Amino acid sequence: MPSPSTSAADVRHPSFRCIACGDRRDGASQDFRCPRCGDLLEITYPSWQESKPDAARLKAAWRDRRLSSRAVDLSGVWRFRELLPAMDADQQVITLREGNTPLYELPQCSRITGVARLLAKHQGLNPTGSFKDAGMTVAATFARRSGFRWVACASTGNTSASMAAYAARGGMRSLVLVPEGKISWSKLSQALDYGAVTCQLRTDFDGCLELLQQLVRRAPVYQLNSINPFRLEGQKTLALELLEQLDWQPPDHIVVPGGNLGNSSAIGKALVEMLGLGLIPRLPRLSVIQAEGANPLVRTLREAAAKRLIPVSPETRATAIRIGSPASWKKAANVLEATGGACEQVSELEIAQAKAEIGAEGIGCEPASAVTLAGLKRLLKQGFVQPGETVVLVLTGNLLKDPDYTIDFHRGDLFEGTRDGQASTALNCLRHPPIVLDATLDAVIRTLEQADES
Ligand code: F0G
Repeated sequence: MPSPSTSAADVRHPSFRCIACGDRRDGASQDFRCPRCGDLLEITYPSWQESKPDAARLKAAWRDRRLSSRAVDLSGVWRFRELLPAMDADQQVITLREGNTPLYELPQCSRITGVARLLAKHQGLNPTGSFKDAGMTVAATFARRSGFRWVACASTGNTSASMAAYAARGGMRSLVLVPEGKISWSKLSQALDYGAVTCQLRTDFDGCLELLQQLVRRAPVYQLNSINPFRLEGQKTLALELLEQLDWQPPDHIVVPGGNLGNSSAIGKALVEMLGLGLIPRLPRLSVIQAEGANPLVRTLREAAAKRLIPVSPETRATAIRIGSPASWKKAANVLEATGGACEQVSELEIAQAKAEIGAEGIGCEPASAVTLAGLKRLLKQGFVQPGETVVLVLTGNLLKDPDYTIDFHRGDLFEGTRDGQASTALNCLRHPPIVLDATLDAVIRTLEQADES
């Protein structure tokens, strides 16, 4: 197998900058780390310095493309291609029509929390059911363009589902490393169906990622974790699309779940770039929410003032964010500082309640996404968010990604055998367990009447 690299000739405009020492290069090695200091790289566009893209023209071009039927314009990611690494030809793009996700009002959650305007940007309505597709279309495209036959990732489930799909569409093979027994069957089933070689490793996500880092140094596989800066460029478009949906009027707050911390980093990068290009007049505050049992960023900010990472042994039923040693912690800490955002943690009970409340809006999401609503409640209590403000929650994954969690919750089994067991009865009013009946009209009518009275 040849061992291709990402070199200057492969990529037209972007340059790779180390987030720690500032070293700049035209290419990156396969571990996507700075050859001088070992920290992560980010993509920058030196050409913007020479000729800054015109904000009004960009907005008009992006709007006009909505009427186009070209594949690159139908993609809610490539529609914003002026802010992405350049491609030579449309045909090179591997797309599943990702992006184009709805921005929903959440009237009931707005009443529950007391926030005047509460919206949800639902990334779970992407082709493979999570926000990962926005980054994957870009990174998979560049993997193929660089001549790779194999792509690989470590995952809590969504990255692997997305990677496997885009690899299949792009004619590449994919290798998935997931922690055995720690991801939902729905996500695993996607990777299998899209043809990935799927390895369930006897470790956690952090162990899988560590192994992948070693693998890319030994074998010609292209890593598609969010350490790969092309992923984050694609995920930036979530923020572009959101602001376009809001007529370029920034909300006061954007709230996002934090796991490996790539998504928050990408959204923050997009916001800072948008401000620099004059696309928006001010920055929204970007806040990151973690589960109490998987809270390395919370601890890193509170106990080490973001000087060094405090890893944790992660434990949460929100398995997508069951991560103890997030790769992009420094990037996330930087964007929190740049936007003036907060970092909070929420309990398992709070996550379950918030998930049921989002479900009751007729929208639904996976548990990791529900930390946003739970976190918002805490930020309101602390006075960080004011009731009169506009808040956007980023829902990262589809409700159907983790049906076991939802069924366990509604049957009252979710907290069985845990210290939250007793306290969880307070959530009974949100539960809608399935009812087994004799197949008679009387039984169904009685059930209907009882439900109507409750
Ligand atoms: N929400 C969902 C549904 C996720 O799948 C993830 C991460 C996150 C939030 C956190 O995003 O890592 O960018 O901070 N899932 C990864 C995966 C780790 O492998 O699917 P992050």
